[in-house]
Amino acid sequence: MGKTGLRRTAALLLFVALLFLSGCEKKQPAQETGLLVGFAQIGSESGWRIGNTRSIQEAAERRGIRLMTADANQMQEKEISAIRSFIAYNVDVIVFVPIVEDGWENVLQEAKKAGIPVILSDRQVADTLDPSLYSAYVGADFHREGVLAAEFLLRKTAELPPDTPVRIVQLTGTEFSSPALQREQGFLETLERDSRFVLLDSVSGDFLKSKGKEGMKELLRRHEGEIDVLFSHNDAMAYGAIEAMEEAGLRPGQDILIISVDGEQEAIDLLRAGKINCVVECTPMLGDLVMDLAEALAAGKDVPPVTYPEETLFTEDDDLSALPPRGY
Ligand code: AHR
Repeated sequence: MGKTGLRRTAALLLFVALLFLSGCEKKQPAQETGLLVGFAQIGSESGWRIGNTRSIQEAAERRGIRLMTADANQMQEKEISAIRSFIAYNVDVIVFVPIVEDGWENVLQEAKKAGIPVILSDRQVADTLDPSLYSAYVGADFHREGVLAAEFLLRKTAELPPDTPVRIVQLTGTEFSSPALQREQGFLETLERDSRFVLLDSVSGDFLKSKGKEGMKELLRRHEGEIDVLFSHNDAMAYGAIEAMEEAGLRPGQDILIISVDGEQEAIDLLRAGKINCVVECTPMLGDLVMDLAEALAAGKDVPPVTYPEETLFTEDDDLSALPPRGY
């Protein structure tokens, strides 16, 4: 066996070890195209995330793209190790979801040196990072999602007597992640021109239902009787918050207005039941958009630096009777 063969075998062993350690899986497509894509996913913290992994895997499978999927179990170091194993294995394209914005420079330099194009899927890296280290971003416009959430609140409160204060709490997503940073920014920037809106407090719920519940309990304890609005950065945390409110004898959606982000089936059901007032859609169905770019990059073509999926807003005022099942 030559040096290249040995290197590939070592890389394969490394990847297999990684699969074993992090519960990764490798999908076998029906008819392979020869294209090999390495996909580092951050974990399975929400129904959204599980839908996102499935979307990427199914899109690859439909196209006969071989996909190596690594689940980092919410740890940035594991994601970095997975990307390194993809480089060692000399995949054609690397796709990864940056769990937080910072800390990717070294590993992306290594991918660049190896000549492997990189696609950022779902989350963005810090805008201070050299943009030549990745080829494209495919995912939501998180800032716009925050703006849409705030605009709903502006409409909802338009009829209140002048100068009525609107006291808001936030359950924010994973600290230093692009959705948490940008959703908050878009939301607060839109409300800051109107002095009626007061941000009482923010607690990180890490995009998890359990931490959303804990966080809401804490917010209710700190601000008893004062909270008018909850802005939850995702549906999973909103489910936890609803449980905390109900346990405290409050009526979610009535005593406290709830705005959430994602659009999972369960959130739409809660919107219909009047327990959530507005859900900003953030679609996890990015698989085809990502694989379109992976195929183009592998063929040496130019790709757009940013691709946003189409997204909408669901509110308590909408007729949702004809809305098809969400699929996540
Ligand atoms: O990065 C997207 C966010 O991550 C989704 O809003 C959330 O549900 C997920 O965990």
